[in-house]
Amino acid sequence: MLRSVSQLEVAGKTVFLRADFNVPLSRGTITETHRIDSTLPTIEFLMERGARVLVASHLGRPGGTADPRWSLAPVARCLEDRLGRPVPLAPDCVGPAVAPSLADPRAAGVVLLENLRFHAGEEANDPAFAAALAGLADVYVNDAFGAAHRAHASTAGMAAHFREKGAGFLFRREVDYLSRVIEAPERPVAAVLGGAKVSDKIGILKNLIPRVDLILVGGAMAYTFLAARSVAVGRSLLEEDFLDVAREILDAAAAAGVPFLLPIDHVVAEDTAVEEPAVTGDESVPEGRMALDIGPRTAALFAERLKDAAVTLWNGPLGLFEREPYRHGTVAVAKALAASAATTVIAGGDTVAAVGLAETAGAMTHLSTGGGAALEFLEGKTLPGVRALEAGDSA
Ligand code: 3PG
Repeated sequence: MLRSVSQLEVAGKTVFLRADFNVPLSRGTITETHRIDSTLPTIEFLMERGARVLVASHLGRPGGTADPRWSLAPVARCLEDRLGRPVPLAPDCVGPAVAPSLADPRAAGVVLLENLRFHAGEEANDPAFAAALAGLADVYVNDAFGAAHRAHASTAGMAAHFREKGAGFLFRREVDYLSRVIEAPERPVAAVLGGAKVSDKIGILKNLIPRVDLILVGGAMAYTFLAARSVAVGRSLLEEDFLDVAREILDAAAAAGVPFLLPIDHVVAEDTAVEEPAVTGDESVPEGRMALDIGPRTAALFAERLKDAAVTLWNGPLGLFEREPYRHGTVAVAKALAASAATTVIAGGDTVAAVGLAETAGAMTHLSTGGGAALEFLEGKTLPGVRALEAGDSA
């Protein structure tokens, strides 16, 4: 059973809080703070309960070396700003450099440990490294849902050292909302899937088909499905090697009685630089053109079908939304979701960004912070980070 941080005895204790502060950086500046902001309720709760909080995270893939480009210093500054109090950054996450930082009176409430991936033992899930991390604290809380698909020392190995351990509020929220898609306590459940490649979405499609009531597909991956149905796709992105898999998925949906809707019209152009693309009259793409967005009739059809959903999952943009001429379908579907009464679960970094671009983020029920982790969860896998919290202790 996944215990929540609210069920743990934390007053007067030192809590190791694994967060996922793997945020995008540009020249040392954080360009998107969603993951940090989403972790604040857990940090604030722990502090209010009288715990001392050691927050730890990875950032980037420094490969086991202390590369200053991947320092968590910008995250410490962001946390100071959000919490309105000093957040000292310890120069390391284990070893002799940590103790003096913890003795700093400013570190009485919350301290950020330096990047876990400065040590090779983190990604190797090395038992000695996991034990060293565990030795810093009395209680283990994991709020790093975005890294829960990694069996690393701080997400998996160290949990076994604690009797008192549980999930932070963000972690719980992620598991609860993503579970509402695959366990479907409320029906109907609709899934809108997009993105470039069928090959990335085979696992999620296979897991969702027996569980949901409606699947709507757009984005470049739709063209492999259309080609599998012998529709002309012009020069649209096509995964020739996955035509058979696409046929199998279409057959599985038909056998399960789950409507599997593909675009019925498209925004097409000779290439992505075109500023004034054309719209096709039907589902086929003319020779020499590539489809770069769903067309207006498809957007209207998808919006209509989504009106009655109790729960809607959306993963993957429906066109080349980064370019203005090709984002109308994605924006239209974002607006349809925002206007619907459904519980809306948005998964994947691009989809969360698209919802932001459509200015509908505030209207969605849940914007997942987990890209790969959310996908693996929706594929039906038990994530190592979840398993580690549920498993018994050896402390
Ligand atoms: C993510 O951003 O998906 C997580 O933080 C995991 O990062 P990783 O893919 O580098 O393991």
